[in-house]
Parts: sequence; C-alpha cells; structure tokens
Amino acid sequence: MRIDIATLFPELCEAVLSASILGRARRSGRISVYCHQIRDYTLDKHRRVDDTCYGGGKGMVMQAEPIYRCYEAVCAQLPDKPHVIYLSPQGKTLTQQRCVELSRMENLLLLCGHYEGVDERVLEEIVDEEISIGDYVLTGGELPALVLVDGIARMCEGVLSSSECYEEESHYNGLLEYPQYTKPEVWRERRVPEVLLSGHHANVDRWRRKQQLLRTQEKRPDLMARYQPAPEDRKLLAELALEEETPGLYKEEKQR
Ligand SMILES: C[S@@+](CC[C@H](N)C(=O)[O-])C[C@H]1O[C@@H](n2cnc3c(N)ncnc32)[C@H](O)[C@@H]1O
Repeated sequence: MRIDIATLFPELCEAVLSASILGRARRSGRISVYCHQIRDYTLDKHRRVDDTCYGGGKGMVMQAEPIYRCYEAVCAQLPDKPHVIYLSPQGKTLTQQRCVELSRMENLLLLCGHYEGVDERVLEEIVDEEISIGDYVLTGGELPALVLVDGIARMCEGVLSSSECYEEESHYNGLLEYPQYTKPEVWRERRVPEVLLSGHHANVDRWRRKQQLLRTQEKRPDLMARYQPAPEDRKLLAELALEEETPGLYKEEKQR
C-alpha cells in the first residue's frame, strides 16, 4: 500500500518513518510512505501557508489553497483518488479495528493540521474521514499521523514476521494481552509463573487465555463489557468468578 502525508514538517515525519520496523518495511517495499511539504504548494512569495482567523481570535489558520494544490499533486501520481484522512481531535478515535480496515486500502493521504487548524472549506472539499488519536489537543497532526501509519503498517502483510505477532496482542480480538516474561527465571525474588516453564503447551495456552480475560476485567472493564465470550472463554470466566469468591485460590492461580 502507499501512504502520502501532507505536512509542514516532513523532516519530523521522515525521522520516525526511517527507523526500526517502519524503516525496514519501507526499504523492503512492503509499504511506501511519502511526505510532502505543504509549503512547496503555496503561491505566496514568502512561502506563507497560514493567515489570521476570520471573525477574530488568537492564532493562525492553515489556508485552503496550498493544501488543495498538494492534494492535487498527490492525486496526479496515483491511479485513483486516495482515501483522505484529516488527523483531528474532532475525529473518531482510532481503534485497532480501524487500523486493520485501513491497512486493506491501496492509497491513503494523511493531512496534518497545525496552528489553530485548517480552513474548513478545504476539509469539506477533500477529506473523507477525520481521525483522532484521543481526547486531547496536540500542536500538530504529525504525531497522530505517525501513530496512524505505525498502527496500519504493522497490519500489512510481511511487515511483522507473522500474523501471530499481533493476533494475541491487546485489542486485536477485544481483549488485552497476557503478561510476558523473559530471562532470568528469578528477578529480585520474583519468579516467572511456573506454568510457563513447564513446556506443556495446552496448559500455557489456557493460562494465557485466562490471564487475558482477567487483565481485561481488571484493567479495562469497558472492553470486557463489550466482549462476547466464546463457550471456552465463558468457562474460564466462571472459574475466575469462583476464584474471586475464594481469594486464596485466586492468588495461587496468579502465581501459577
Ligand atoms: C492545535 S490543533 C487544532 C485544534 C483545533 N483548534 C480544535 O480545537 O479542534 C492543531 C492540529 O493538530 C492536530 N491534532 C491535535 N490534536 C489531535 C488529536 N488528538 N488527534 C489527531 N490530530 C490532532 C490536528 O491536525 C490539528 O489541526
């Protein structure tokens, strides 16, 4: 897939996009990401892209024309119109499910706002969807765009070594992931749960699933309320409920 990013800070985006798993995915051609400097599309001789806000008020607003010309330049490079996403605190909050859906699209264009935001008319003209990364306001859309690219990229085939890498991770199936441990077996008197050293795969799987249910219940009851457990999960949830009534048993299960 190809992702284009329209921004006033392409160098900031490039720094993140060149590193680690994203950098490797780009170099191997699993995904293509291109950053475009919106300033290159202004007709202003001082390269201005913003102006004061009609109606008064503090701060500057990004002008419509440079953004529209940048959009046209990106469209000219693509066979079809890209799906245009404006990163905005007013958008729908990003979810794992939306990352999966967007990873199946061919072309995305991400628009990063700055200052007070963007002239509404260009948003009406080109934007298909607004996405927020949470209910708070940042200074610009670059960090949200990078969050989105990262979330999407790891869902693209071949970016991670296998789908197993993300299928049991938090949020993929509506639950949080089980706890993870690595060497040494004992660290500052804290032991790795015995079952993980047993080599008994069925017991390990069962323990992990139970931990997923337990953690989600404890840390994110809102997720648990939406989760629709399969019969096997219902059995584990019943066990957990019983253990909660008999705390001694519950503690042992956590240690095991
Ligand atoms: C200071 S914000 C503008 C906020 C705007 N005045 C408002 O109140 O809705 C500047 C830019 O940062 C980006 N931004 C800020 N917070 C964001 C968030 N939570 N999610 C996605 N983008 C965000 C948007 O691109 C926005 O245009």
